[in-house]
Amino acid sequence: MTNQHGHILVVDDNRMNRIKLSAGLEQQGHCVTLAEHGKQALEMMRAQSFDVVLLDIMMPEMDGYQVLEQIKNDSTLRDIPVIVISALDESNSIVRCIEMGAEDYLTKPFDPVLLKARLSASLEKKKLRDLERAYLQQEVMLRQSEKLATLGKLSAGMAHELNNPIAAVQRGAGHFRAAITQAQQALLKLGESSLTKAQIDILLAYDQLAQKRAAEPTDLDSLMRCECEDEIKIWMEARGIENAWEFAPALVNLGYDNNALAALAENFTSAQIPAVIAWLSSTYLIYSLLEELGQGSGRMAEIIRALKAYTYMDQAPVQSVDVHEGLDNTLVMLRNKLKVGIDVHRQYAENLPRIQAYGSELNQVWTNIIDNAVEAMQGRGELTLRTRQEEQWVVVEIEDNGPGISEAIQAKIFDPFFTTKAPGKGTGLGLNISHNIIVQKHKGKIAVRSQPGKTCFEIRLPISFEK
Ligand SMILES: Nc1ncnc2c1ncn2[C@@H]1O[C@H](COP(=O)(O)OP(=O)(O)OP(=O)(O)O)[C@@H](O)[C@H]1O
Ligand SMILES: [Mg+2]
Repeated sequence: MTNQHGHILVVDDNRMNRIKLSAGLEQQGHCVTLAEHGKQALEMMRAQSFDVVLLDIMMPEMDGYQVLEQIKNDSTLRDIPVIVISALDESNSIVRCIEMGAEDYLTKPFDPVLLKARLSASLEKKKLRDLERAYLQQEVMLRQSEKLATLGKLSAGMAHELNNPIAAVQRGAGHFRAAITQAQQALLKLGESSLTKAQIDILLAYDQLAQKRAAEPTDLDSLMRCECEDEIKIWMEARGIENAWEFAPALVNLGYDNNALAALAENFTSAQIPAVIAWLSSTYLIYSLLEELGQGSGRMAEIIRALKAYTYMDQAPVQSVDVHEGLDNTLVMLRNKLKVGIDVHRQYAENLPRIQAYGSELNQVWTNIIDNAVEAMQGRGELTLRTRQEEQWVVVEIEDNGPGISEAIQAKIFDPFFTTKAPGKGTGLGLNISHNIIVQKHKGKIAVRSQPGKTCFEIRLPISFEK
Protein backbone atom coordinates (compact mmCIF):
# COMPACT_ATOMS: atom_id res chain seq x y z
CA MET A 1 0.00 0.00 0.00
CA THR A 2 1.36 3.41 -0.89
CA ASN A 3 1.99 5.97 1.81
CA GLN A 4 -0.78 8.49 1.36
CA HIS A 5 -1.07 11.97 2.73
CA GLY A 6 -4.34 13.67 3.32
CA HIS A 7 -6.33 16.37 5.02
CA ILE A 8 -7.42 14.96 8.38
CA LEU A 9 -9.98 16.31 10.79
CA VAL A 10 -9.35 15.42 14.43
CA VAL A 11 -12.43 15.74 16.64
CA ASP A 12 -11.71 15.46 20.35
CA ASP A 13 -12.85 17.51 23.37
CA ASN A 14 -9.59 16.85 25.20
CA ARG A 15 -6.95 19.43 24.34
CA MET A 16 -3.99 17.19 25.17
CA ASN A 17 -5.34 14.39 22.98
CA ARG A 18 -5.80 16.81 20.10
CA ILE A 19 -2.26 18.15 20.40
CA LYS A 20 -0.71 14.71 20.65
CA LEU A 21 -2.66 13.33 17.72
CA SER A 22 -2.02 16.30 15.46
CA ALA A 23 1.70 16.30 16.20
CA GLY A 24 1.94 12.64 15.28
CA LEU A 25 -0.11 13.06 12.14
CA GLU A 26 1.78 16.12 10.97
CA GLN A 27 4.98 14.24 11.44
CA GLN A 28 3.64 11.61 9.04
CA GLY A 29 3.11 14.36 6.50
CA HIS A 30 -0.65 14.92 6.84
CA CYS A 31 -2.39 18.23 7.00
CA VAL A 32 -4.44 18.41 10.22
CA THR A 33 -7.42 20.48 11.32
CA LEU A 34 -8.72 20.33 14.89
CA ALA A 35 -12.27 20.48 16.19
CA GLU A 36 -13.12 20.72 19.89
CA HIS A 37 -16.65 19.39 19.69
CA GLY A 38 -19.09 17.68 17.36
CA LYS A 39 -20.96 20.78 16.22
CA GLN A 40 -17.76 22.54 15.22
CA ALA A 41 -16.59 19.39 13.39
CA LEU A 42 -19.78 19.26 11.28
CA GLU A 43 -19.49 22.96 10.44
CA MET A 44 -15.91 22.48 9.35
CA MET A 45 -16.77 19.45 7.26
CA ARG A 46 -19.43 21.43 5.42
CA ALA A 47 -16.99 24.28 4.76
CA GLN A 48 -13.82 22.38 3.77
CA SER A 49 -13.01 19.05 2.24
CA PHE A 50 -11.42 16.31 4.35
CA ASP A 51 -10.04 12.91 3.45
CA VAL A 52 -10.50 11.23 6.84
CA VAL A 53 -12.14 12.13 10.16
CA LEU A 54 -10.73 10.88 13.46
CA LEU A 55 -13.68 11.04 15.80
CA ASP A 56 -13.69 10.72 19.57
CA ILE A 57 -16.80 9.02 20.95
CA MET A 58 -17.07 10.37 24.45
CA MET A 59 -17.68 14.11 24.15
CA PRO A 60 -20.04 16.44 26.04
CA GLU A 61 -23.22 17.76 24.31
CA MET A 62 -22.93 16.00 21.00
CA ASP A 63 -21.17 12.66 21.28
CA GLY A 64 -19.36 10.75 18.53
CA TYR A 65 -22.44 8.64 17.71
CA GLN A 66 -24.49 11.73 16.98
CA VAL A 67 -21.75 13.24 14.84
CA LEU A 68 -21.42 9.97 12.94
CA GLU A 69 -25.17 9.81 12.40
CA GLN A 70 -25.25 13.32 10.93
CA ILE A 71 -22.28 12.59 8.67
CA LYS A 72 -23.92 9.46 7.30
CA ASN A 73 -27.22 11.28 6.74
CA ASP A 74 -25.57 13.97 4.66
CA SER A 75 -24.99 12.90 1.08
CA THR A 76 -22.13 15.36 0.66
CA LEU A 77 -20.26 14.03 3.72
CA ARG A 78 -21.18 10.38 3.74
CA ASP A 79 -18.22 9.25 1.62
CA ILE A 80 -15.57 10.65 3.98
CA PRO A 81 -14.17 7.76 6.01
CA VAL A 82 -14.56 8.10 9.79
CA ILE A 83 -12.19 6.36 12.19
CA VAL A 84 -13.64 6.38 15.68
CA ILE A 85 -11.43 6.75 18.71
CA SER A 86 -12.59 5.22 21.90
CA ALA A 87 -11.08 5.51 25.32
CA LEU A 88 -13.11 2.57 26.37
CA ASP A 89 -11.76 -0.66 25.20
CA GLU A 90 -15.30 -1.71 24.94
CA SER A 91 -16.36 -3.84 22.05
CA ASN A 92 -20.03 -2.70 22.25
CA SER A 93 -19.34 0.92 21.36
CA ILE A 94 -17.01 -0.11 18.54
CA VAL A 95 -19.59 -2.47 17.07
CA ARG A 96 -22.21 0.27 17.29
CA CYS A 97 -19.97 2.71 15.42
CA ILE A 98 -19.12 0.22 12.69
CA GLU A 99 -22.83 -0.53 12.27
CA MET A 100 -23.45 3.17 11.95
CA GLY A 101 -20.99 3.36 9.07
CA ALA A 102 -17.61 4.10 10.69
CA GLU A 103 -14.74 2.89 8.54
CA ASP A 104 -12.48 1.68 11.34
CA TYR A 105 -11.67 2.24 14.99
CA LEU A 106 -8.73 2.90 17.29
CA THR A 107 -8.53 2.58 21.03
CA LYS A 108 -6.70 4.96 23.31
CA PRO A 109 -3.84 5.07 24.00
CA PHE A 110 -3.00 4.49 20.34
CA ASP A 111 -0.21 2.60 18.86
CA PRO A 112 1.39 4.93 16.25
CA VAL A 113 2.08 2.04 13.86
CA LEU A 114 -1.55 0.93 13.99
CA LEU A 115 -2.74 4.51 13.54
CA LYS A 116 -0.56 4.89 10.45
CA ALA A 117 -1.74 1.62 8.91
CA ARG A 118 -5.43 2.29 9.51
CA LEU A 119 -5.16 5.82 8.28
CA SER A 120 -3.47 4.69 5.08
CA ALA A 121 -6.18 2.13 4.45
CA SER A 122 -8.91 4.74 4.93
CA LEU A 123 -7.14 7.25 2.72
CA GLU A 124 -6.86 4.63 -0.01
CA LYS A 125 -10.59 3.94 0.24
CA LYS A 126 -11.35 7.66 0.07
CA LYS A 127 -9.23 7.95 -3.06
CA LEU A 128 -11.16 5.09 -4.69
CA ARG A 129 -14.49 6.67 -3.72
CA ASP A 130 -13.38 9.97 -5.21
CA LEU A 131 -12.41 8.18 -8.40
CA GLU A 132 -15.76 6.42 -8.48
CA ARG A 133 -17.59 9.69 -7.99
CA ALA A 134 -15.59 11.34 -10.78
CA TYR A 135 -16.35 8.37 -13.03
CA LEU A 136 -20.08 8.60 -12.29
CA GLN A 137 -20.01 12.29 -13.03
CA GLN A 138 -18.29 11.54 -16.32
CA GLU A 139 -20.98 8.97 -17.07
CA VAL A 140 -23.66 11.58 -16.55
CA MET A 141 -21.83 13.95 -18.86
CA LEU A 142 -21.44 11.17 -21.39
CA ARG A 143 -25.19 10.55 -21.38
CA GLN A 144 -25.78 14.24 -21.72
CA SER A 145 -23.48 14.51 -24.69
CA GLU A 146 -25.17 11.51 -26.28
CA LYS A 147 -28.53 13.23 -25.98
CA LEU A 148 -27.00 16.12 -27.84
CA ALA A 149 -25.53 13.72 -30.39
CA THR A 150 -28.98 12.27 -31.16
CA LEU A 151 -30.37 15.75 -31.33
CA GLY A 152 -27.60 16.62 -33.76
CA LYS A 153 -28.59 13.72 -35.99
CA LEU A 154 -32.09 15.10 -36.17
CA SER A 155 -31.60 18.82 -36.09
CA ALA A 156 -29.79 19.14 -39.42
CA GLY A 157 -32.60 17.24 -41.14
CA MET A 158 -35.28 19.06 -39.16
CA ALA A 159 -33.85 22.44 -40.04
CA HIS A 160 -33.87 21.45 -43.67
CA GLU A 161 -37.41 20.10 -43.51
CA LEU A 162 -38.62 23.29 -41.88
CA ASN A 163 -36.70 25.48 -44.28
CA ASN A 164 -38.78 24.59 -47.32
CA PRO A 165 -42.18 25.49 -45.86
CA ILE A 166 -40.73 28.57 -44.17
CA ALA A 167 -39.27 29.74 -47.46
CA ALA A 168 -42.63 29.09 -49.17
CA VAL A 169 -44.51 31.10 -46.55
CA GLN A 170 -42.03 33.98 -46.75
CA ARG A 171 -42.11 34.00 -50.53
CA GLY A 172 -45.90 33.87 -50.53
CA ALA A 173 -46.20 36.74 -48.06
CA GLY A 174 -43.78 38.79 -50.16
CA HIS A 175 -45.80 38.35 -53.36
CA PHE A 176 -49.13 38.90 -51.69
CA ARG A 177 -48.89 42.67 -51.49
CA ALA A 178 -48.17 43.09 -55.21
CA ALA A 179 -51.01 40.74 -56.13
CA ILE A 180 -53.53 42.62 -53.94
CA THR A 181 -52.46 46.00 -55.37
CA GLN A 182 -52.90 44.70 -58.89
CA ALA A 183 -56.32 43.21 -58.13
CA GLN A 184 -57.49 46.46 -56.47
CA GLN A 185 -56.38 48.62 -59.37
CA ALA A 186 -58.01 46.31 -61.89
CA LEU A 187 -61.26 46.29 -59.91
CA LEU A 188 -61.33 50.10 -59.70
CA LYS A 189 -60.85 50.33 -63.45
CA LEU A 190 -63.65 47.84 -64.02
CA GLY A 191 -65.84 49.84 -61.65
CA GLU A 192 -65.25 52.97 -63.71
CA SER A 193 -66.38 51.15 -66.82
CA SER A 194 -69.82 50.53 -65.24
CA LEU A 195 -70.21 46.78 -65.46
CA THR A 196 -73.57 45.27 -66.29
CA LYS A 197 -75.25 42.79 -63.96
CA ALA A 198 -74.45 40.00 -66.43
CA GLN A 199 -70.79 41.00 -66.51
CA ILE A 200 -70.62 41.02 -62.73
CA ASP A 201 -72.06 37.50 -62.68
CA ILE A 202 -69.42 36.38 -65.16
CA LEU A 203 -66.66 37.88 -63.01
CA LEU A 204 -68.06 36.11 -59.92
CA ALA A 205 -67.97 32.83 -61.84
CA TYR A 206 -64.33 33.53 -62.75
CA ASP A 207 -63.61 34.13 -59.11
CA GLN A 208 -64.96 30.65 -58.34
CA LEU A 209 -62.87 29.19 -61.13
CA ALA A 210 -59.74 30.91 -59.82
CA GLN A 211 -60.34 29.42 -56.34
CA LYS A 212 -60.82 25.97 -57.75
CA ARG A 213 -57.77 26.05 -60.00
CA ALA A 214 -55.55 27.46 -57.25
CA ALA A 215 -56.39 24.42 -55.14
CA GLU A 216 -55.85 21.99 -58.05
CA PRO A 217 -53.29 23.46 -60.45
CA THR A 218 -53.41 22.27 -64.08
CA ASP A 219 -50.99 19.52 -64.82
CA LEU A 220 -48.93 20.72 -67.81
CA ASP A 221 -45.36 19.80 -68.66
CA SER A 222 -43.00 22.72 -69.05
CA LEU A 223 -42.89 22.57 -72.85
CA MET A 224 -46.67 22.66 -73.17
CA ARG A 225 -46.79 25.44 -70.64
CA CYS A 226 -44.29 27.55 -72.61
CA GLU A 227 -46.22 27.05 -75.82
CA CYS A 228 -49.52 28.03 -74.22
CA GLU A 229 -48.00 31.10 -72.57
CA ASP A 230 -46.50 32.25 -75.89
CA GLU A 231 -49.80 31.81 -77.66
CA ILE A 232 -51.67 33.75 -75.00
CA LYS A 233 -49.08 36.51 -74.96
CA ILE A 234 -49.50 37.02 -78.69
CA TRP A 235 -53.30 37.12 -78.28
CA MET A 236 -53.03 39.74 -75.53
CA GLU A 237 -50.45 41.86 -77.32
CA ALA A 238 -52.69 41.96 -80.37
CA ARG A 239 -55.34 43.55 -78.12
CA GLY A 240 -52.95 46.16 -76.76
CA ILE A 241 -52.69 44.61 -73.29
CA GLU A 242 -49.55 45.84 -71.55
CA ASN A 243 -47.36 43.47 -69.47
CA ALA A 244 -48.85 40.45 -71.20
CA TRP A 245 -45.91 38.30 -70.00
CA GLU A 246 -46.94 38.99 -66.42
CA PHE A 247 -50.47 37.65 -66.85
CA ALA A 248 -49.78 34.71 -69.16
CA PRO A 249 -48.63 32.13 -66.53
CA ALA A 250 -51.71 32.70 -64.34
CA LEU A 251 -54.04 32.43 -67.34
CA VAL A 252 -52.42 29.16 -68.40
CA ASN A 253 -52.85 27.85 -64.86
CA LEU A 254 -56.48 28.85 -65.04
CA GLY A 255 -56.77 26.60 -68.08
CA TYR A 256 -57.10 29.34 -70.71
CA ASP A 257 -56.00 29.07 -74.29
CA ASN A 258 -56.69 31.44 -77.16
CA ASN A 259 -60.15 30.04 -77.83
CA ALA A 260 -61.20 30.36 -74.22
CA LEU A 261 -59.85 33.91 -74.11
CA ALA A 262 -61.75 34.77 -77.28
CA ALA A 263 -64.94 33.47 -75.63
CA LEU A 264 -64.20 35.56 -72.53
CA ALA A 265 -63.59 38.65 -74.65
CA GLU A 266 -67.05 38.38 -76.19
CA ASN A 267 -68.62 39.35 -72.87
CA PHE A 268 -66.65 42.56 -72.42
CA THR A 269 -65.87 45.71 -74.41
CA SER A 270 -62.34 46.04 -75.79
CA ALA A 271 -61.73 48.86 -73.26
CA GLN A 272 -62.67 46.53 -70.41
CA ILE A 273 -60.64 43.50 -71.51
CA PRO A 274 -57.18 44.61 -70.18
CA ALA A 275 -58.65 45.23 -66.71
CA VAL A 276 -60.57 41.93 -66.78
CA ILE A 277 -57.36 40.06 -67.67
CA ALA A 278 -55.34 41.88 -64.97
CA TRP A 279 -58.06 41.22 -62.38
CA LEU A 280 -58.39 37.57 -63.35
CA SER A 281 -54.68 36.87 -63.23
CA SER A 282 -54.16 38.67 -59.91
CA THR A 283 -57.20 36.99 -58.35
CA TYR A 284 -55.79 33.61 -59.33
CA LEU A 285 -52.42 34.65 -57.92
CA ILE A 286 -53.97 35.65 -54.59
CA TYR A 287 -55.77 32.32 -54.23
CA SER A 288 -52.74 30.30 -55.16
CA LEU A 289 -50.53 32.26 -52.73
CA LEU A 290 -53.11 31.59 -50.02
CA GLU A 291 -52.94 27.94 -50.94
CA GLU A 292 -49.13 27.99 -50.62
CA LEU A 293 -49.31 29.74 -47.27
CA GLY A 294 -51.81 27.17 -46.03
CA GLN A 295 -49.72 24.25 -47.26
CA GLY A 296 -46.48 25.70 -45.88
CA SER A 297 -47.87 26.34 -42.44
CA GLY A 298 -49.65 22.97 -42.54
CA ARG A 299 -46.33 21.26 -43.27
CA MET A 300 -44.68 23.14 -40.39
CA ALA A 301 -47.46 22.08 -38.05
CA GLU A 302 -47.01 18.48 -39.23
CA ILE A 303 -43.27 18.58 -38.49
CA ILE A 304 -43.85 20.01 -35.02
CA ARG A 305 -46.54 17.39 -34.38
CA ALA A 306 -44.11 14.64 -35.39
CA LEU A 307 -41.42 16.15 -33.19
CA LYS A 308 -43.81 16.24 -30.26
CA ALA A 309 -44.84 12.66 -30.84
CA TYR A 310 -41.22 11.59 -31.33
CA THR A 311 -40.09 13.10 -28.04
CA TYR A 312 -43.28 12.05 -26.21
CA MET A 313 -43.34 15.66 -25.05
CA ASP A 314 -45.79 16.34 -22.20
CA GLN A 315 -46.03 12.65 -21.40
CA ALA A 316 -44.84 10.55 -18.48
CA PRO A 317 -41.38 9.06 -19.01
CA VAL A 318 -42.63 5.47 -18.73
CA GLN A 319 -45.81 4.73 -20.60
CA SER A 320 -47.60 2.21 -22.73
CA VAL A 321 -45.85 2.52 -26.06
CA ASP A 322 -46.96 1.50 -29.53
CA VAL A 323 -43.64 0.38 -31.05
CA HIS A 324 -44.92 0.87 -34.62
CA GLU A 325 -45.89 4.45 -33.84
CA GLY A 326 -42.39 5.10 -32.45
CA LEU A 327 -40.72 3.61 -35.51
CA ASP A 328 -42.98 5.62 -37.85
CA ASN A 329 -42.38 8.88 -35.98
CA THR A 330 -38.66 8.23 -36.21
CA LEU A 331 -38.98 7.70 -39.96
CA VAL A 332 -40.78 11.04 -40.22
CA MET A 333 -38.01 12.73 -38.28
CA LEU A 334 -35.36 11.17 -40.51
CA ARG A 335 -37.35 11.77 -43.71
CA ASN A 336 -34.79 14.17 -45.03
CA LYS A 337 -32.03 11.55 -44.85
CA LEU A 338 -34.19 8.77 -46.22
CA LYS A 339 -36.03 10.43 -49.04
CA VAL A 340 -33.15 10.65 -51.50
CA GLY A 341 -32.24 7.02 -52.04
CA ILE A 342 -33.50 4.72 -49.30
CA ASP A 343 -36.37 2.30 -49.90
CA VAL A 344 -38.02 1.67 -46.57
CA HIS A 345 -39.91 -1.62 -46.13
CA ARG A 346 -42.10 -1.93 -43.09
CA GLN A 347 -42.91 -5.52 -42.22
CA TYR A 348 -44.94 -4.94 -39.09
CA ALA A 349 -46.64 -7.73 -37.21
CA GLU A 350 -50.38 -7.42 -36.85
CA ASN A 351 -51.71 -6.97 -33.33
CA LEU A 352 -48.30 -6.28 -31.84
CA PRO A 353 -48.96 -5.59 -28.14
CA ARG A 354 -48.10 -2.21 -26.68
CA ILE A 355 -45.12 -2.34 -24.35
CA GLN A 356 -44.23 -0.58 -21.17
CA ALA A 357 -41.31 1.67 -22.11
CA TYR A 358 -39.53 5.01 -22.05
CA GLY A 359 -40.98 6.12 -25.37
CA SER A 360 -38.68 8.96 -26.24
CA GLU A 361 -35.59 6.96 -25.35
CA LEU A 362 -36.69 4.06 -27.54
CA ASN A 363 -37.00 6.55 -30.37
CA GLN A 364 -33.40 7.57 -29.73
CA VAL A 365 -32.45 3.93 -30.25
CA TRP A 366 -34.36 3.69 -33.55
CA THR A 367 -32.78 6.98 -34.63
CA ASN A 368 -29.25 5.81 -33.89
CA ILE A 369 -29.64 2.46 -35.62
CA ILE A 370 -31.40 3.84 -38.69
CA ASP A 371 -28.89 6.68 -38.89
CA ASN A 372 -26.02 4.15 -38.85
CA ALA A 373 -27.72 2.07 -41.55
CA VAL A 374 -28.23 5.10 -43.80
CA GLU A 375 -24.61 6.14 -43.32
CA ALA A 376 -23.35 2.62 -44.00
CA MET A 377 -25.40 2.48 -47.23
CA GLN A 378 -24.15 5.97 -48.09
CA GLY A 379 -27.70 7.17 -48.50
CA ARG A 380 -28.74 4.52 -51.08
CA GLY A 381 -30.19 1.10 -50.37
CA GLU A 382 -32.91 -0.91 -48.71
CA LEU A 383 -33.95 -0.47 -45.12
CA THR A 384 -36.27 -3.05 -43.61
CA LEU A 385 -38.07 -2.65 -40.30
CA ARG A 386 -39.58 -5.85 -38.98
CA THR A 387 -41.55 -6.52 -35.82
CA ARG A 388 -42.96 -9.60 -34.17
CA GLN A 389 -44.05 -10.92 -30.82
CA GLU A 390 -42.25 -13.85 -29.21
CA GLU A 391 -43.91 -14.84 -25.97
CA GLN A 392 -43.29 -11.98 -23.54
CA TRP A 393 -41.01 -10.13 -25.94
CA VAL A 394 -41.56 -7.65 -28.71
CA VAL A 395 -38.79 -8.09 -31.27
CA VAL A 396 -37.75 -5.33 -33.64
CA GLU A 397 -35.32 -5.93 -36.48
CA ILE A 398 -33.68 -3.14 -38.42
CA GLU A 399 -31.87 -4.41 -41.47
CA ASP A 400 -29.84 -2.72 -44.17
CA ASN A 401 -28.13 -3.99 -47.30
CA GLY A 402 -24.95 -1.97 -46.78
CA PRO A 403 -21.37 -3.25 -46.65
CA GLY A 404 -21.75 -4.95 -43.24
CA ILE A 405 -19.64 -4.87 -40.08
CA SER A 406 -16.47 -6.97 -40.10
CA GLU A 407 -16.27 -9.62 -37.40
CA ALA A 408 -13.20 -7.96 -35.95
CA ILE A 409 -15.16 -4.87 -34.97
CA GLN A 410 -18.54 -6.43 -34.19
CA ALA A 411 -17.45 -6.91 -30.58
CA LYS A 412 -16.53 -3.24 -30.21
CA ILE A 413 -19.40 -1.38 -31.80
CA PHE A 414 -21.31 -1.03 -28.51
CA ASP A 415 -18.27 0.45 -26.71
CA PRO A 416 -18.41 4.17 -25.97
CA PHE A 417 -16.50 6.27 -28.47
CA PHE A 418 -15.90 3.38 -30.86
CA THR A 419 -16.32 4.73 -34.36
CA THR A 420 -14.96 4.00 -37.80
CA LYS A 421 -16.06 7.40 -39.00
CA ALA A 422 -13.68 10.24 -39.77
CA PRO A 423 -12.90 12.65 -36.92
CA GLY A 424 -15.76 15.07 -36.47
CA LYS A 425 -18.17 12.76 -38.33
CA GLY A 426 -19.22 10.39 -35.58
CA THR A 427 -18.92 10.41 -31.81
CA GLY A 428 -19.08 6.64 -31.46
CA LEU A 429 -21.79 6.98 -28.83
CA GLY A 430 -24.87 6.03 -30.88
CA LEU A 431 -24.79 2.29 -30.24
CA ASN A 432 -23.41 2.61 -26.72
CA ILE A 433 -26.37 4.67 -25.55
CA SER A 434 -28.75 2.44 -27.50
CA HIS A 435 -27.32 -0.55 -25.67
CA ASN A 436 -27.78 1.18 -22.31
CA ILE A 437 -31.34 2.20 -23.10
CA ILE A 438 -32.33 -1.29 -24.19
CA VAL A 439 -30.39 -3.40 -21.69
CA GLN A 440 -30.31 -1.28 -18.56
CA LYS A 441 -33.45 0.80 -18.80
CA HIS A 442 -35.75 -1.75 -20.41
CA LYS A 443 -34.14 -5.05 -19.37
CA GLY A 444 -34.09 -5.95 -23.05
CA LYS A 445 -31.48 -7.28 -25.44
CA ILE A 446 -29.72 -5.90 -28.47
CA ALA A 447 -27.62 -7.92 -30.88
CA VAL A 448 -26.22 -7.62 -34.37
CA ARG A 449 -25.86 -10.11 -37.21
CA SER A 450 -23.83 -8.91 -40.10
CA GLN A 451 -22.30 -10.02 -43.37
CA PRO A 452 -21.52 -8.01 -46.48
CA GLY A 453 -24.85 -6.87 -47.93
CA LYS A 454 -26.88 -7.63 -44.84
CA THR A 455 -26.66 -6.12 -41.39
CA CYS A 456 -29.45 -6.70 -38.94
CA PHE A 457 -29.83 -5.20 -35.48
CA GLU A 458 -32.24 -7.21 -33.35
CA ILE A 459 -33.82 -5.57 -30.34
CA ARG A 460 -35.89 -7.54 -27.85
CA LEU A 461 -38.03 -5.66 -25.44
CA PRO A 462 -40.04 -7.22 -22.63
CA ILE A 463 -43.72 -6.32 -22.87
CA SER A 464 -43.39 -5.22 -19.26
CA PHE A 465 -39.99 -4.67 -17.68
CA GLU A 466 -41.11 -4.30 -14.10
CA LYS A 467 -42.29 -7.86 -13.64
N1 LIG B 1 -25.56 -0.71 -40.05
C1 LIG B 1 -24.22 -0.62 -39.97
N2 LIG B 1 -23.43 -1.03 -41.02
C2 LIG B 1 -22.08 -0.94 -40.94
N3 LIG B 1 -21.42 -0.48 -39.85
C3 LIG B 1 -22.12 -0.08 -38.78
C4 LIG B 1 -23.57 -0.13 -38.79
N4 LIG B 1 -23.99 0.33 -37.60
C5 LIG B 1 -22.88 0.64 -36.90
N5 LIG B 1 -21.76 0.40 -37.60
C6 LIG B 1 -20.38 0.60 -37.13
O1 LIG B 1 -20.39 0.78 -35.73
C7 LIG B 1 -19.69 1.96 -35.37
C8 LIG B 1 -20.25 2.53 -34.10
O2 LIG B 1 -21.57 3.03 -34.30
P1 LIG B 1 -22.11 4.17 -33.35
O3 LIG B 1 -23.48 4.49 -33.79
O4 LIG B 1 -21.93 3.76 -31.94
O5 LIG B 1 -21.15 5.39 -33.60
P2 LIG B 1 -20.98 6.27 -34.92
O6 LIG B 1 -22.14 6.02 -35.83
O7 LIG B 1 -19.63 6.00 -35.47
O8 LIG B 1 -21.04 7.73 -34.34
P3 LIG B 1 -22.37 8.50 -33.85
O9 LIG B 1 -23.49 7.52 -33.86
O10 LIG B 1 -22.06 8.94 -32.48
O11 LIG B 1 -22.53 9.59 -34.80
C9 LIG B 1 -19.80 2.85 -36.60
O12 LIG B 1 -18.74 3.78 -36.67
C10 LIG B 1 -19.73 1.82 -37.73
O13 LIG B 1 -18.40 1.45 -38.01
MG1 LIG C 1 -24.10 6.12 -35.08
